[in-house]
Amino acid sequence: METITLNNGVTMPTLGLGVFQMRDPDQCERTVDTALELGYRLIDTAQSYGNEAAVGNAISRSGIPRDELFVTTKIKVANLTYDRARTSLLESLRAMRLNYVDLLLIHHPYNDVFGAWRAMRELRDEGFVRAVGVSNFPPDRLEDLVLHGGETPQLMQIEMHPFNQQHPSMELMRRHNIRPEAWGPLAQGKFGIFDNPTLMGIAAKHEKTVAQVVLRWLLQRGVTVIPKTVHEERLKENLDVFDFTLRDDEMLAINTLDQNLTVTPQMREPFWIDNLSSF
Ligand SMILES: NC(=O)c1ccc[n+]([C@@H]2O[C@H](COP(=O)([O-])OP(=O)(O)OC[C@H]3O[C@@H](n4cnc5c(N)ncnc54)[C@H](OP(=O)(O)O)[C@@H]3O)[C@@H](O)[C@H]2O)c1
Repeated sequence: METITLNNGVTMPTLGLGVFQMRDPDQCERTVDTALELGYRLIDTAQSYGNEAAVGNAISRSGIPRDELFVTTKIKVANLTYDRARTSLLESLRAMRLNYVDLLLIHHPYNDVFGAWRAMRELRDEGFVRAVGVSNFPPDRLEDLVLHGGETPQLMQIEMHPFNQQHPSMELMRRHNIRPEAWGPLAQGKFGIFDNPTLMGIAAKHEKTVAQVVLRWLLQRGVTVIPKTVHEERLKENLDVFDFTLRDDEMLAINTLDQNLTVTPQMREPFWIDNLSSF
């Protein structure tokens, strides 16, 4: 598995499995089982996904040495305070039956972000976490945290796909040496992504699928990808992206698809923040 090194020296795979919307624990466990058998080593979960225990069951059954795995979880909004960040991370570890997570993220930029950030850095210094980062921070909030949070995050996870290329955030992360990670790398199947003529044309030339071309385009932009699927064939397909390279003109053709389209237009709406805060 290809890896990169984060700004604190921790290495991580460039591709993994996301388990959002795998609420059925049996399905989640089976999918993580299969993914680990196929060679996935990065698993991305979150407190709000309700499947940390299922992920932990699959990990412990796999017999894969812990230091070969990279496990991410995210602190939900209700737990983003100094005290709750600590206790909730310890609860997440208990649920997953792990001694540490490799990456701990602030899931959304709400509640006492700075207090939670301080607790997360302490947890890392105590060995419960190897790297800390954020998710869904717009550029101004990320810059604020870099300037006033005492430390530059190791990684930021944001929505990113050909129809939402996040140029201002990408430039900011490049400037601060923060690793970008794409959630929704396949745009959750929306915006006609799998029928897009540009993507289909490039896929045909490489005898690859549109999903593989999109994941490859992100990887070549220096972005970690965590596509979600519950199907074994698609798990294989999404992993099989390291044996071809997109040419510069193909990268540029995909760059022209940007339309600033988001799968979560409600993300900054007050009602959505109320919703995120209540669970
Ligand atoms: N930080 C955040 O706020 C946040 C938000 C959303 C997601 N995430 C993380 O990012 C991960 C990925 O994002 P996502 O799940 O939202 O979207 P995604 O990975 O872009 O898309 C998943 C969708 O694409 C389908 N799919 C996957 N591989 C495919 C393939 N090769 N061909 C055709 N369809 C395919 C899946 O269906 P099947 O399962 O039926 O195959 C599912 O409907 C999540 O699982 C989660 O870990 C984080």
